Amino acid sequence: MAEPILKWVGGKRQLLSDLRSRFPIKYDQYHEPFIGGGAVFFELEPTTGSINDLNRRLITFYKIIRDFPERLIEENQRHSYEEEYYYEARERFNELHALDERSVDQEIEEASLMLYLNRTGYNGLYRENQSGGFNVPFGEHSNPDFIRKRQIRAGSVILDDIDIHNDDFTYIAERATSKDLVYFDPPYEPVSKTADFTQYQSDGFSKSDQERLRDLAVRLDKDDIYVVISNSPPVWELYDHLSDFTVSYVNAARMVNSDANNRGDVAEVIITNVPREQQQQQNLQDYT
Ligand SMILES: C[S@@+](CC[C@H](N)C(=O)[O-])C[C@H]1O[C@@H](n2cnc3c(N)ncnc32)[C@H](O)[C@@H]1O
Repeated sequence: MAEPILKWVGGKRQLLSDLRSRFPIKYDQYHEPFIGGGAVFFELEPTTGSINDLNRRLITFYKIIRDFPERLIEENQRHSYEEEYYYEARERFNELHALDERSVDQEIEEASLMLYLNRTGYNGLYRENQSGGFNVPFGEHSNPDFIRKRQIRAGSVILDDIDIHNDDFTYIAERATSKDLVYFDPPYEPVSKTADFTQYQSDGFSKSDQERLRDLAVRLDKDDIYVVISNSPPVWELYDHLSDFTVSYVNAARMVNSDANNRGDVAEVIITNVPREQQQQQNLQDYT
């Protein structure tokens, strides 16, 4: 059971046991099309499958961890935790991103800066301006670890036989086959009682992207592929009419509530086509 290497918004550590209890007892390959910080992936330590994210810098980071862990660790030792250095590092990170083609050395440098900025920037946020410049300010931390030797070495072993993609999540339609498990953790729709779900746009992920994800889930289901999706409550209605899928409501205190009109405390929904009798824990209080 390994740790994630980066901090990432939407990290799934709190939801791990709720998610895993819905995963099938047996499956072939494991895929995660919205990998982010990979909390679930590193916890599971799958030996075959694929990961993906639209964020190119994040994907370069994982490839470098897989292919050049020792060079990355060496590069990480060059940084220092000082405000002035942070802003120089951020500028260099953006210069490298703007290059059309990068050498392996430049990719290692970028991956190292990604980790350094993630560990020393404000709240471990990842945020870009409109032209793709990373713009998170310096953060106050006590003794931040931007070398992460142990985690990088462990991550490199886990990623060894995993395909790493930098694509839209729909790549999975060509990649997954029968009895594989696909766990989707898309950017969430914000929860608000007043706002209209159809107007939302979070992290560039719109209502129509949520519908594309639902349509893909239906297609994977037809191909006998196990699907688990975590999301925020407004999307339940996209899946409600699909008889192969169940929607469970889970909050931080692990309260479960089946009534869609009474979702006051609910933080997350988990949607799956894994039949109850094939799930890892069948004794959960889980109403659908
Ligand atoms: C909620 S985060 C995933 C969090 C992750 N499960 C964790 O534990 O850290 C969603 C991720 O989806 C990525 N993303 C956004 N739109 C995407 C798309 N169309 N295809 C693939 N990835 C996308 C974002 O870059 C982000 O890293």
